[in-house]
Amino acid sequence: MDNRPVGIFDSGLGGLTVVRVLRRLMPNERIIYFGDTGRMPYGSKSRAQIRQIAGQNISFVEEKGVKAILAACGTISSNAPDILSANEIKAIGVLMPGAKELAETGFERLGVIATQCSIESGAFQKELMRLRPDAVVTAAACPDFVPMIESGRYRADDAIVRQTVTDSLRPLKEAGVQALLLGCTHYGLIAEAISDYLGGDVALIGAADASARALKAYLEAEDMQAESGDEQYYTSGSVEDFTALAPVMLGYELRSGASFVEPFPLEEEQ
Ligand code: DGL
Repeated sequence: MDNRPVGIFDSGLGGLTVVRVLRRLMPNERIIYFGDTGRMPYGSKSRAQIRQIAGQNISFVEEKGVKAILAACGTISSNAPDILSANEIKAIGVLMPGAKELAETGFERLGVIATQCSIESGAFQKELMRLRPDAVVTAAACPDFVPMIESGRYRADDAIVRQTVTDSLRPLKEAGVQALLLGCTHYGLIAEAISDYLGGDVALIGAADASARALKAYLEAEDMQAESGDEQYYTSGSVEDFTALAPVMLGYELRSGASFVEPFPLEEEQ
């Protein structure tokens, strides 16, 4: 047993899709969640800035005394995998668990969608080709998804959501993908719209769900489960917006609200 909390972070609300699954899988875990909404989106920042953010966010949750960390963000997972794996406290990303679950579907035409910076890093594609050298992998960046979702537009019956999904996923449809990895934790929120466009027979694999399962497996293997769960939320953006939208992502109200954290300074691009 280990009653220290787990630390989870993302650029905003997307990582809450991981919390939602984790809550279901491990109701007794204590969770510290940092939604870095003040610096959202990460996906259009430089690789150097994303790596800097990775270090800052890890330090933030470590200062809260966590026993394990989940970088609930495809952008950080794909641009700073070495920072995560070298961290003294176990730090799991969403890339490896997500790619593994997609590879294990057994389909031959695989797709991955993620933020601009995630796709440009080539990390998802590389991992998928390593796991499934026989497969054809189609990758597409969807830079419009995160700002759209953070503005509260995610419903499948929203005309803007439908149009944005159609415009962004055309290459995947044309490639006839049979299974698609949602390589950004925000994208689970628009899974219904994605499925409506691609067709219900295309399997959607959520990197968020896969990473929650990976964290559970780690805590169980190390016998580090907690005995009773609570949650603390922090945001570097508007507390009001965060507390209004978080319940939609989580499926329940925030028990003790959210606290504001001044956004950590980011060095300018060289
Ligand atoms: N949820 C983050 C990810 O998984 C979004 C990054 C962003 O803010 O662009 O990549």
